[in-house]
Amino acid sequence: MTLENHEAWPTMTTTVTDKIRDRIERIVTTPSIPAVFLPLVDLLSGPAEEANLDEVVRLVSYDNAIAAQCLRVASSPLFGMVKPPKSIAAAVMTLGLQRVETIVLTSCMGEAFSREKWGIDPVAFWRHSLGCAMVSRKFSEKLAGVDGERAYMAGLLHDLGFLASSMAFPEEFAVAVERACREQIPLHEAEQATMGFTHCETGRALAEKWHLAKDILDVIAHHHAPTQAGSAGSLVALVHLSDELCRVRGLDYGYYERHKVDLISDPAWSILLQDHRDLEGVDLARFTFELDESAAKVGEMVSAIFGPVAA
Ligand SMILES: [Fe+2]
Ligand SMILES: [Fe+2]
Repeated sequence: MTLENHEAWPTMTTTVTDKIRDRIERIVTTPSIPAVFLPLVDLLSGPAEEANLDEVVRLVSYDNAIAAQCLRVASSPLFGMVKPPKSIAAAVMTLGLQRVETIVLTSCMGEAFSREKWGIDPVAFWRHSLGCAMVSRKFSEKLAGVDGERAYMAGLLHDLGFLASSMAFPEEFAVAVERACREQIPLHEAEQATMGFTHCETGRALAEKWHLAKDILDVIAHHHAPTQAGSAGSLVALVHLSDELCRVRGLDYGYYERHKVDLISDPAWSILLQDHRDLEGVDLARFTFELDESAAKVGEMVSAIFGPVAA
C-alpha cells in the first residue's frame, strides 16, 4: 500500500498516524479480507429490487464458511421452516437479501479476524453493531433522500476499528477496555486516555487498506466527533446518534457506561437539522419507542447467528 495516496489525518501527528497504518498493514495482512466480501457488499448495498439474486447465490456459494453460516441461520426456528433449506439458493430466498447481507458481513469479519484475539466480547460487539445498523436504517426513514441500505451498512461497520485495534494493538487495547469497564466510561474516552488514539483511527486505517467507500470511511473515522466529518456529514451524524441510542438502551459493548443521551442538544442533531428540516416534526418519544422494538429484533437476529445471548 502506498501511504502517500491517503489524506492527512488532521487530529493526529504524522508519527502516530504512521504507527497506526504500519501496524494495521503488518497485522491484518494475514488473514486478509475474504475475496467475496467487497463484491457482495457492492451488490447488496444498492436498492434491493436491483440486486441480482443469482449473483448473490453464486458469491455466497463461493465461500464455504459464509455458505454454511447462511444455511445454519436459515434453518433456525426464527424463520419457522418445516424443513431446513437444502441449497444456498433456498437459504437466500428464505432469509431475504437484508439478512443475507448481515450474515455475509458478520461471517467475513469473523473470518478476517480470529475470534479468540478479539479484545471485546464478540457477541456484544455484533449485538451493538447490528443494533446500530437497524437503528440507523430506521432513523433514515425519517430523513428524505437518505438511502436506508447505506445507513444500515454504515451502522454495521462503524466500529470496525475495535477489531482493528484488537489485532494491531492487543495489549494497549486490553488496557483501554479494562479501564472503560472499571471507570464505566465510554470506550473511546478510555482509548484516548490510555493509547492516545481511538478505534476511529485504527478503523480508518483498515478502511483505507480495504478501499471501503468514502462515506463509510467517514463514518468509521468520525462517528464520535461528527462535527469533524466532511462530505458525508449527515450519514456520520445519523450513525453517531444511533450509536449513542444503542449504548443507552441495552445494545452496548457488554459493560455499564455512565452515559446519558440528549438527542436535541447533541451537535449531530443540529447537523441533521441543517439538511433535513423535516426532522423538526418528529415525535421523539414515539421514535424512541420504535427503536426499542428494533432492539428486540436485534436480540433475535444475534441469537440466530451466534446462539443465545447471555442476559
Ligand atoms: Fe465507536
Ligand atoms: Fe458504537
